[in-house]
Amino acid sequence: MRVIIADHPLITHKLTILRDEQTPPPTFRLLVEELMTLLAYEATRDVRVESVEIQTPVARTTGVRLSRPAPLIVPILRAGLGMLEGMVKLLPTAEVGFLGMKRDEQTLQPATYAERLPDDLAGRQCFVVDPMLATGGSLAAAIQFLFDRGAEDVTAVCILGTPEGISTMREAVGQHNVTLVLGALDEGLDESSYIVPGLGDAGDRLYGTI
Ligand code: PRP
Ligand code: URA
Repeated sequence: MRVIIADHPLITHKLTILRDEQTPPPTFRLLVEELMTLLAYEATRDVRVESVEIQTPVARTTGVRLSRPAPLIVPILRAGLGMLEGMVKLLPTAEVGFLGMKRDEQTLQPATYAERLPDDLAGRQCFVVDPMLATGGSLAAAIQFLFDRGAEDVTAVCILGTPEGISTMREAVGQHNVTLVLGALDEGLDESSYIVPGLGDAGDRLYGTI
């Protein structure tokens, strides 16, 4: 598994506001979307393209367009939904699948409560988005859904990650072709398996505590 940790002052600046407990939900939502767009630049570095010939007002030239089949974006509900628009802005032809997962805060095991994915993912480039990679259980389970449907090329994008989450992912991914893009690698987990320093509960800060 290839791990890319974005290193850019604009990302660090936006992350600092995102982490701040005083940041209200409307600003938090905007920042999650903006951070996704910035991370998408890294995450789509190997997006498949094919060459096309076009006519400019001056001359004929060759360029590229996104290849078919279109890439698939999979936000992990709830919190991943906050990243979706930021990704779709850069990949407007992408299709979107959904996975709903909730980490049991006692056992830390992810429970899947919704799934809407294409049956066959062979040959599809898949982008899974979730702001938080904590123990890694949720992302590892999400990626397993994609492998089970034949996905061979998966990029996961998280705003914050931990060393524990990365090692869970390495074990889950094995020899599959997976890239993990992080906005920052945090110190680790606290006694409740929250990311430290982190930003708290991403879903609650986006959508309220339910
Ligand atoms: C959060 C987050 C990840 C998961 C990370 O979701 O968005 O999906 O926890 O934790 P893990 O790496 O230890 O599995 P949560 O389960 O709180 O659901 P929510 O998005 O509905 O708030
Ligand atoms: N889920 C979150 O939303 N935040 C954490 O720090 C860990 C899991």
